[in-house]
Amino acid sequence: MSKTANSKYELSKDIANRWSPRVFSDKEITLTQIETLFEAARWAPSSNNGQPWRFMYTLKGTEAYDKAFSCLAEFNQSWVANAPILVLTAYKKTFDNGKENFHALHDLGLAVSNLSLQAQSMGIAVHQMAGVNWRKAHEVYNIPEDFHVTTAIAIGYYGGDVQKLPEELQKAEVAERQRISLSKIVNEGTFNL
Ligand SMILES: Cc1cc2nc3c(=O)[nH]c(=O)nc-3n(C[C@H](O)[C@H](O)[C@H](O)COP(=O)(O)O)c2cc1C
Repeated sequence: MSKTANSKYELSKDIANRWSPRVFSDKEITLTQIETLFEAARWAPSSNNGQPWRFMYTLKGTEAYDKAFSCLAEFNQSWVANAPILVLTAYKKTFDNGKENFHALHDLGLAVSNLSLQAQSMGIAVHQMAGVNWRKAHEVYNIPEDFHVTTAIAIGYYGGDVQKLPEELQKAEVAERQRISLSKIVNEGTFNL
């Protein structure tokens, strides 16, 4: 199934074709491929080159996966088990000199964007999730205050059976992707709020 962005502009193929599935194929993702995805994240730009992003990945069928899974919101637990790889992300709130890194969340987003476009170029799908019980994750992994667990990411090859989803999610899986208009989000010389 393809869900190419409905755009009148000539976007790069990876941007146009990326989407966030909730079912995945069983095809194995190799360790080298996993490392390639995080290497792409590593080369993202960041404020002061602070590189505040942190990732933990787990493989389906391991205790580590189940532990990460237990930190997800119930809604995400209803579909995430379809994915062979489950990631938790975090960012470091301060620079190494102790000053607050106000743009750390922005930088984590850039790193995940790199990861997801690298994945797309390899035919691999990425589904990001805000629905994480971050307080639980901090407890479970003993993560210090200076970090914030931010999102989870499901990763796997595109494909897989839509019927595996709870009924209410099946429609969204095949629906056209929607965006607000370009003129709503960008204007020359003014902010259109
Ligand atoms: C930061 C972030 C948090 C998200 N949280 C969730 C989530 O908790 N559960 C979920 O099913 N999808 C989640 N999504 C996926 C979005 O709903 C999805 O990206 C959006 O609807 C656009 O669809 P597309 O990625 O297929 O273009 C999240 C995406 C992002 C970037």
